[in-house]
Amino acid sequence: MKIFLDTANLSEIREAASWGVLDGITTNPSLVSKEGRDFKELIREICSIVDGPVSAEVVAVTKNEIVEEGLELAKIHRNIVVKVPLIVEGLKAVKVLSAKGIKVNVTLCFSANQALLAAKAGAAYISPFIGRLDDISHDGMAVVGDIKTIYQNYGYSTQILTASIRNPLHVLEAAKMGSHVATMPFKVLEQIVKHPLTDMGLKRFLSDWDKFLKEKESFLPPKDGSALRLAEKAHGVS
Ligand code: E4P
Repeated sequence: MKIFLDTANLSEIREAASWGVLDGITTNPSLVSKEGRDFKELIREICSIVDGPVSAEVVAVTKNEIVEEGLELAKIHRNIVVKVPLIVEGLKAVKVLSAKGIKVNVTLCFSANQALLAAKAGAAYISPFIGRLDDISHDGMAVVGDIKTIYQNYGYSTQILTASIRNPLHVLEAAKMGSHVATMPFKVLEQIVKHPLTDMGLKRFLSDWDKFLKEKESFLPPKDGSALRLAEKAHGVS
């Protein structure tokens, strides 16, 4: 499963990229607005850090405007994936953009039927928002499972990008379900690398090693030769 970071924050992106596990980035207007930077400049900088798909979302809501905005965004970098909302005008725009060879991530997906339509329109990625479904007592991961079944039934190549991930269990479930991608906040990436037994185990290994080094030092004769003189004395050697 590919791991994407769901952020527009450059220091989080740089840090995750340095771990060697980051495959791509998703952003949305809310995340971008938090950074207080020029949108295109920020996206360009993200693309210079991460060599993988970077989703940049349109804010237009009519077909022609979405296409126009999508074409502009796609010019920023070859790794740009244009993110389009799952509305009727969005689907029309997906058809046009994908026919032009532009990769589209269809976002704000909350049902498998919506995902079916996105695939038919030519989406490269579908983003089911599992956290927001769980928030309203719907089983978000069940939607991912249904999408997977439907896509397999008909051989759609649209990749499932599980989004709106809130915790490590969401990542685990997405991976078990066979989601192609999971996009998560940096906080969740930090959570999934950690295990208390790893920390305790490492602490024990290091302290045992330290003890061993200290004991080894006491086996060795002191460098000033005093141990040798003591031994000679004990054996009556003058
Ligand atoms: C997906 O691409 C979205 O940016 C994101 O996952 C939404 O997550 P949220 O529900 O935590 O805002």
